[in-house]
Amino acid sequence: MKILVVGSGGREHAIIKALKKSPEAEKIYALPGNGGMAADAECVNIGAKDIEGIVKFAQENAVDFAVVAPDDPLALGAVDALEAAGIPSFGPTKAAARIEASKVFSKNLMEKYHIPTAACHISTDMQDALSYLESAPAPIVIKADGLALGKGVVIAKTREEAKAAVIDMMENKVFGDSGNRVVIEEFLEGPEVSVLAFTDGKTLKPMVSSMDHKRALDDDQGLNTGGMGTIAPNPFYTEEVAARCMEEIFIPTVKAMQMEGCPFKGCLYFGLMLTKDGPKVIEYNCRFGDPETQVVLPLLKSDLLTIFQAVRNETLADCQVEFDTGAACCVVMASKGYPQKYETGFPITLTPDTDTVTTYVAGAKLDEQGHLLTGGGRVLGVTATGKCLHCAVKNAYEAVEKTSFANAYYRKDIGRRALNKEA
Ligand code: AMP
Ligand code: GLY
Repeated sequence: MKILVVGSGGREHAIIKALKKSPEAEKIYALPGNGGMAADAECVNIGAKDIEGIVKFAQENAVDFAVVAPDDPLALGAVDALEAAGIPSFGPTKAAARIEASKVFSKNLMEKYHIPTAACHISTDMQDALSYLESAPAPIVIKADGLALGKGVVIAKTREEAKAAVIDMMENKVFGDSGNRVVIEEFLEGPEVSVLAFTDGKTLKPMVSSMDHKRALDDDQGLNTGGMGTIAPNPFYTEEVAARCMEEIFIPTVKAMQMEGCPFKGCLYFGLMLTKDGPKVIEYNCRFGDPETQVVLPLLKSDLLTIFQAVRNETLADCQVEFDTGAACCVVMASKGYPQKYETGFPITLTPDTDTVTTYVAGAKLDEQGHLLTGGGRVLGVTATGKCLHCAVKNAYEAVEKTSFANAYYRKDIGRRALNKEA
């Protein structure tokens, strides 16, 4: 089969490497991909948001199956367009992608179907938001309604900070139209868990749980980033918690999307907080998480392409989704300055992949001589598996020591919180 994967980051590299293992996969195209994936897929310079270009390429190259990984093309209707052109595709429709693309949609959904989440107030008008904040307790969370490159969430420690965030979003339009509506949300506390799940709109099969490390610096200091590292499984996600999430959150969400007339088919991401009142949804994503995918897929024992096809064909109930009982750790190596200003163009020395170590390339390009150069904020996701979490973390950091580029920085404590919980 000829497969097309839309996207260009570490997540897409992990999806491509997993698909490549399928005996059915003859050829994989990455649109646009990045220089570091060139050994695994043919990168074609068509942007992830160029829906017309993607469909045209798929038709002209007789693509048999398409996978749309990032949120933007999903929210723009890439899967609707590909399917309409006769290309079987993995990913939610535009209507189902609203579960991530509009926080107002997802908050209303959770309220209507009694899915546990933070209490909230939705404002379409700045004066309403500001007067609501007069009597709201701090800390409080302000979220822009639409997609904002993962930056549309402000945890305000004081009312003044909260008001400033509302003014930034609604008046100064720092996230453009994404800030036309804001969600003002109760601040929740507890360990965070990411659960990615395959669903065909009827059946849901969760993947192994994981933990992201969002802050730029050790000990969860510094700015929020797209994610500086992950581990799987997440030790806070016990069997008991998993059973409760299935009953109170996962199944009700699948049913809610059916009832709303937009069944969700694809990878549904549950960002959960385990509060003292039980697990609650912080956010839904309509796609694989990055860098969660980089630890989840290396532990998948079943064939990813078969699962993708079962999701698309609505036969997931009959499809095996099995994970290894071991653990995985991904350490993101970023360019110094990320998530703000950083320089690129430095040569990268990779450590060769082994049975237990894989480097996923997130932001890199090839120069004319074929050398790999840094080309983004998050450059590499150095990932290792092991029998236990301790082994996986150790293996990952050993590989990081053998990997280098100028101005590299990475967190030294990926997995520490999880290991402390296990001890
Ligand atoms: P997001 O960009 O939606 O992934 O949110 C970024 C981070 O903000 C999450 O991973 C949480 O750590 C935090 N967050 C979001 N909503 C809340 C909330 N209601 N209470 C506490 N922290 C939150
Ligand atoms: N790692 C969080 C996300 O993909 O949004």
